[in-house]
Amino acid sequence: MTEIQHVLNEERLFPPSPEFSAKARIGSMREYQQLYDRAAENPVEFWSELARKELHWFQDFDQGMVWNEPFVEWFVGGKTNACYNCLDAHLNSETRDRNAIIWEGEPGDVRTLTYAELHEQVCKFANVLKSRGVGVGDVVSIYMPMVPELAITMLACARIGAVHSVIFGGFSAEAIADRNHDAQAKVQVTADGGWRRGKVLPLKETVDAALEKSSSVETCIVLRRTENDVVMKEDRDFWWHELMAEASSDCPAEALDSETPLFILYTSGSTGKPKGIKHTTAGYNLYAKMSFRWVFDWRPDDVYWCTADCGWITGHSYIVYGPLSNGATAVMYEGAPNHPEPDRFWELVEKHKVTTLYTAPTAIRAFIKWGDEHVEKHDLSSLRLLGTVGEGINPEAWVWYHEKIGSEKCPIVDTWWQTETGGIMMSPLPGAIPTKPGSCTVPLPGILPAIVDESGESVSEGAGGWLVFTHPWPGMLRGIWGDDERYQDVYWSKVKGSYLAGDNARKDQDGYYWIMGRIDDVINVSGHRLSTIEVESALVSHPSVAEAAAVGKSHELKGQAISAFVTIKEGEPNEELRNELKQHVRKEIGALAVPDEIRFAAAVPKTRSGKIMRRLLKDIAEGREQVGDTSTLEDYTVLANLRDDES
Ligand code: PRX
Repeated sequence: MTEIQHVLNEERLFPPSPEFSAKARIGSMREYQQLYDRAAENPVEFWSELARKELHWFQDFDQGMVWNEPFVEWFVGGKTNACYNCLDAHLNSETRDRNAIIWEGEPGDVRTLTYAELHEQVCKFANVLKSRGVGVGDVVSIYMPMVPELAITMLACARIGAVHSVIFGGFSAEAIADRNHDAQAKVQVTADGGWRRGKVLPLKETVDAALEKSSSVETCIVLRRTENDVVMKEDRDFWWHELMAEASSDCPAEALDSETPLFILYTSGSTGKPKGIKHTTAGYNLYAKMSFRWVFDWRPDDVYWCTADCGWITGHSYIVYGPLSNGATAVMYEGAPNHPEPDRFWELVEKHKVTTLYTAPTAIRAFIKWGDEHVEKHDLSSLRLLGTVGEGINPEAWVWYHEKIGSEKCPIVDTWWQTETGGIMMSPLPGAIPTKPGSCTVPLPGILPAIVDESGESVSEGAGGWLVFTHPWPGMLRGIWGDDERYQDVYWSKVKGSYLAGDNARKDQDGYYWIMGRIDDVINVSGHRLSTIEVESALVSHPSVAEAAAVGKSHELKGQAISAFVTIKEGEPNEELRNELKQHVRKEIGALAVPDEIRFAAAVPKTRSGKIMRRLLKDIAEGREQVGDTSTLEDYTVLANLRDDES
């Protein structure tokens, strides 16, 4: 038996309000279906038409797509530039003077940059990079706080055809050195520090240690942000402001082949070495632009805020390339959501009159735990649309987001995608698709998902199986940096002709998709294959539970038993609650999903990007990692910190 059983039923349906639909770009299911069908009929023609309309071409392309599985090229023969599409394309319209970025630092300092101002800064920094010998194909490693200069650096690279590799500011020196070595980075861009929970993160110090081991890096450019003391190494380290002072703002965008690499972004594999996911210029740019417009139903007067860090794909596609190529105004925030108080996000929404908020379920669960009083202090009436990304959202958290943040009037877009997909693949289009809590609903136009079993055959209706995509799309990764074999093996070897996403999913009777967790995380209890997300959602629907993680642990009779790790909203855990939670799962799902073991955790250990560290939890459940007394609140922070590679 290879199919995964679906055991949790969610029947609530939330259609968009007629007012929302009336103003939306795509305002009905029928309109969506027409667009979807047209795209599905001939995806290459569909994307080619859009590419000609939406991107600037220094030279038109002559082939829409060339597909030599597993390698794809889009818009072959054409020349464009992602930075040009994000900035120059707006300079002759009223967008020129619109804010591109509204930035707020953690200490409360605010800076805004119009499209014209951002363009000028990017041109200058592009010239700085050129003066340090950077040209087409050279890799620039970026390790910075969430400041406008991070976006400026990314765009400056795109402008001259250099490849950026952004490394999240929480990674260690070792992790930076590994990535710099793998990419053979030539220049490092960093800052003296960044603000996090009122303290300075000493970024330059970490970079100094990394550069000891990064022999390919010739130059390090340092932005002054926190004014803390740093050591500058002669002939290698230069201050951002000194180089910028001498730089000209005249720097025409290079006409680049469509498939010129735009960036590398490292993401963890299931084992060992991180994978350098490669994205290229034209296809990625088009996909980020269109998916942003469709999913966020973007309007010129929106103030859009994606709370992700540019160190992740969400920041690349939905802070930088997607919003800017549409001419949107994006909010960027440097610091923690609970500094100085747990109401910081809501203060920002009120202050900047944010209309669209895009955040992660892990943050939403934290807000629930911190208490509604922090939300209620603020006027959130500017919001019209909410989104989530990064992991499944448990229906209870979804409903809280809908009621407390969205005042029951904002549609929620639960967006499913991956670093590899470049952009959102499945999500409600908010004016057209009624939502169901916990479902990422339907594929975007031009995206062709299927659910198959291990032999590549379609599963029976409603059953869970592997999520695959049967046709390439423009935002698709082009490979793993320097490792074609691994690329072929991970994504293309298991199901012939299809991209294997590595997630399980099912499709319900309305054609809605429900993500069930990673393929490796399925729990097999007495031959019943259960999805982690469903067990977790059942636990989170209990009023005392803030967060839950379910993993399989070996069991002599059942094959596997469920071990659940639970954080509670307040108070001390006790035996009574443990039994109550088991009863609750029995009621919600049935006896087969009742966890054999429930452990109370001070916090569920997370990777730096907010995903549950399941491998660590499995090791704990199996007794391979010792944590001592399991009757009280367990703290896994120390263990989690040791697992640098799981990020
Ligand atoms: O398992 C899925 C989960 O996150 C994985 C991709 O992670 P990453 O490359 O870090 O990208 C995160 C930001 C796009 C997926 O394979 N995931 C992401 N979004 C969702 C999700 N799982 C369920 N629902 C989602 N909306």
